[in-house]
Amino acid sequence: MSLVNTKEILLDAHAECYAVGAFNISNMETAQAIIEGAIELNSPVIIEVSESAIKYMGMNVACGMVRALVKDISIPVALHLDHGRNWEVISRAIDSGFTSVMIDASDKPFAENVEITKKVVEKAHQMGVSVEAEIGRLPGSEDDVNVEEREAFLVNPNDAQKFVEMTGIDFLAPAIGTSHGAFKFKGDSTLDYDRLREVKEKTDIPLVLHGASSVRDTLIEEAERYGLQLKGAKGLDDNSLKQAIRDGINKVNTDTDIRIAFTTAVRRVLHNDSTVFDPRKLLGPAREYMKNVVKERIEILGSENRA
Ligand code: G3H
Ligand code: 13P
Ligand code: ZN
Repeated sequence: MSLVNTKEILLDAHAECYAVGAFNISNMETAQAIIEGAIELNSPVIIEVSESAIKYMGMNVACGMVRALVKDISIPVALHLDHGRNWEVISRAIDSGFTSVMIDASDKPFAENVEITKKVVEKAHQMGVSVEAEIGRLPGSEDDVNVEEREAFLVNPNDAQKFVEMTGIDFLAPAIGTSHGAFKFKGDSTLDYDRLREVKEKTDIPLVLHGASSVRDTLIEEAERYGLQLKGAKGLDDNSLKQAIRDGINKVNTDTDIRIAFTTAVRRVLHNDSTVFDPRKLLGPAREYMKNVVKERIEILGSENRA
């Protein structure tokens, strides 16, 4: 099967009130883990590549590899540019066969965010590529900001409505209290569900949750057993994620959980056998572990058997 337009996958999720996993890749093993996990659960899936992952792999490698991996499978897979900020990269991604792009100008004032986003929508839509944009901002981690600053970063629902009308984007990432990385909250997960519901009501399009990794205690304990230092790590708990999906989230971004799973598996192999030097003996178990994380996420999101 060829790649499918991300919008097609997300419009079904929007209509049926479930969410689809968007998982970041940085190499072949990550991409294989995501696709194999989705096949085993008969789920649609979105593969995301960030600008820095494109810099690492090369645009042609990223696109060619994902296209090759989906060629003989029957589940819907979309290819998405995550946090596009650079026009050259966004433009090349559209020309290279990505099925959606994110333009992230969320650090710019509203009017500038609208102008930049409109330019991307114009080019992308001409090529049948859908567009995600963000309003409100995600801090790097809870430690970076105090509570008042955190509140100021959240999406304003009236702005969200105007933004969608003015830009014609296909899906929107509203900041509702998550952050990227492994250190999201100091106490319990605190998302602004009222704000999320209002954004959904006012925009009526698929919504995206960034910074959604669960950073599970069991995974952290295992990672720490093999020497990874993650003291104070905390992610988004399953109940909060499920509530966000009930309130309108349809695309759930996960990168950190995959990175930790990969690293933990590699560390485990190295710890258990000091004679290993074949990369496949490190990366094979890492691929398997990442696949398990992908499957666990798919089950929580409700996209199993929706392919
Ligand atoms: O949201 C950010 C993603 O986790 C990608 O991160 O730019 O380090 O690839 P990256
Ligand atoms: P995490 O850091 O929580 O995995 O979020 C990833 C993300 O939002 C990618 O865009
Ligand atoms: Zn993100």
